[in-house]
Amino acid sequence: MAGAVPRLSDDPALRAARDALAARPLSALFEADPQRAQRLQCAGAGIDLHYAKQRVDDDAIAALVAFATRCGLHDRIRALCDGETVNSTEQRAAQHMALRAQPGEIWMAQGERVDEAVLSTRERFLQFAEDVRAGRILATDGGPFSDVINIGIGGSDFGPRMVCAALAPMAHGPRVHFIANVDAAEREQVLSGLDPARTLVIVTSKTFRTQETMANAQSVRHWLVANLGEAAVARHVAAVSTAIDAAEAFGIEASRVFGFWDWVGGRYSLWSAVGLPIALALGRAAFEQLLAGAHAMDDHFRCAPAAQNVPVMMGLLAVWNRNLLGAQSLVIAPYAQRLQRFIGWLQQLEMESNGKGVRMDGTPVPDATTAALWGDVGTNAQHAFFQMLHQGPDAHPVDFILPIQPDHDDHEQQRLLIANCLAQSAALMHGRSVAQVQSALEASGMTPQAAERAAVHRHLPGNRPSSTVLLERLDAWHLGALLACYEHRTFVQSVLWGINAFDQWGVELGKRLADDVDAALRGERAAGLDAETDLLIQRVLNSAA
Ligand code: F6P
Repeated sequence: MAGAVPRLSDDPALRAARDALAARPLSALFEADPQRAQRLQCAGAGIDLHYAKQRVDDDAIAALVAFATRCGLHDRIRALCDGETVNSTEQRAAQHMALRAQPGEIWMAQGERVDEAVLSTRERFLQFAEDVRAGRILATDGGPFSDVINIGIGGSDFGPRMVCAALAPMAHGPRVHFIANVDAAEREQVLSGLDPARTLVIVTSKTFRTQETMANAQSVRHWLVANLGEAAVARHVAAVSTAIDAAEAFGIEASRVFGFWDWVGGRYSLWSAVGLPIALALGRAAFEQLLAGAHAMDDHFRCAPAAQNVPVMMGLLAVWNRNLLGAQSLVIAPYAQRLQRFIGWLQQLEMESNGKGVRMDGTPVPDATTAALWGDVGTNAQHAFFQMLHQGPDAHPVDFILPIQPDHDDHEQQRLLIANCLAQSAALMHGRSVAQVQSALEASGMTPQAAERAAVHRHLPGNRPSSTVLLERLDAWHLGALLACYEHRTFVQSVLWGINAFDQWGVELGKRLADDVDAALRGERAAGLDAETDLLIQRVLNSAA
């Protein structure tokens, strides 16, 4: 039960494990235990988690697993899988796993079977994608679509945009473009390269009322109508939404509106018709592989015991770092250029899910919740913020994510990429003591006095934790497994904090106030917020005048 969730940082076994490790740096743990690297790893659904460079030992893992058991993790996973009302503030299930359903399986959401609707909707949007790709669905002039624009934001953008980028070498359909920002600069940039006669537009919005998406959808609709006439809307626009009536009211033909369900959170939705841009770019087979990889991870998550369960262990390590070691952030460092957009997707997934301060029972969370997630791809990140990771005063744990096999033929550069990834986690862990630096400098000819002065600046404290997440290659199946793994990791943390990972009330106020400020900018009424906001509005109005 949520109300019974104990306080992590007060747990005697966790505190004892943490205190016992305080005087034992990672390098000492490795020296004392030749089997450490062998033992502190687990694998499932093609994802290997190596966590020997985390500041844990067997006692810490046992205490974390025991704590998770006291929080009812096993029952909460079962409740999630069974489609129970885990999103208690919105009275909904969070049944994104059903979107990965394979034929013949039974999936429920709040007591209703959902697998048939999932499979039939999947068939509809995959068939639509195949028909567009094969030139069976055509533009108003009878020619094929060469380009697709997805208009959506947040969960209606991050997932499909990230998957299309990650699997770009497999794309052999129409080019897919994305417009999310209400800053028209993004829209202008996308439209400037496109021929409306060859462009299919998808408006993706769970609610079909998100300000940014509706503004961009109206503008792109004008662009189509101005160039091709009103009739083009029916042939050139499709929609993905739970609000089917609103999509049809926008003028989109019913056969081109693809639904999903309120038990799918926006940030968990790429597996639904929200993934239509993926299917258009990559085709049915790749989309089904993506689902199959995620489904394999779902099975692993549901069945593997905690200590061998990759997403469970990732979630436990996350709360360990956050609540026992006080880490403020988690760095995501994929050593794969094509995973650059994975970071943005994961930021929404984790911080919109777990950026909460109140437990499901309405009481304040007594522990800190989500760490801030940030990062960039290696090796670029090494030349940006890794200096801070090595020598800054705070330890920021890192998830190194490494697909081993490249999808190009440059094996030499792939070797260099891998070398850098493995070297960075080793450098963070080992560090370099003042004495080591000093003797190296003296050996290179420096005087002892100069070496002593220089060593203070050049030493690295080490003992900085990281995990290494390996996948064989970045194909659709492994990507699906990786994404599902991070989805489940997010849920595990929420269980240990006793919070609801599936609502997002925090984003509502800003949306409402943006409407008030917009009215003030249009001169309709005062925003009535505060003196500085009024001053800023006035400054903007003066600039416009
Ligand atoms: O950022 C808030 C949010 O509600 C997200 O949860 C969601 O993914 C995004 O806005 C877009 O919402 P919609 O798909 O309804 O347009």
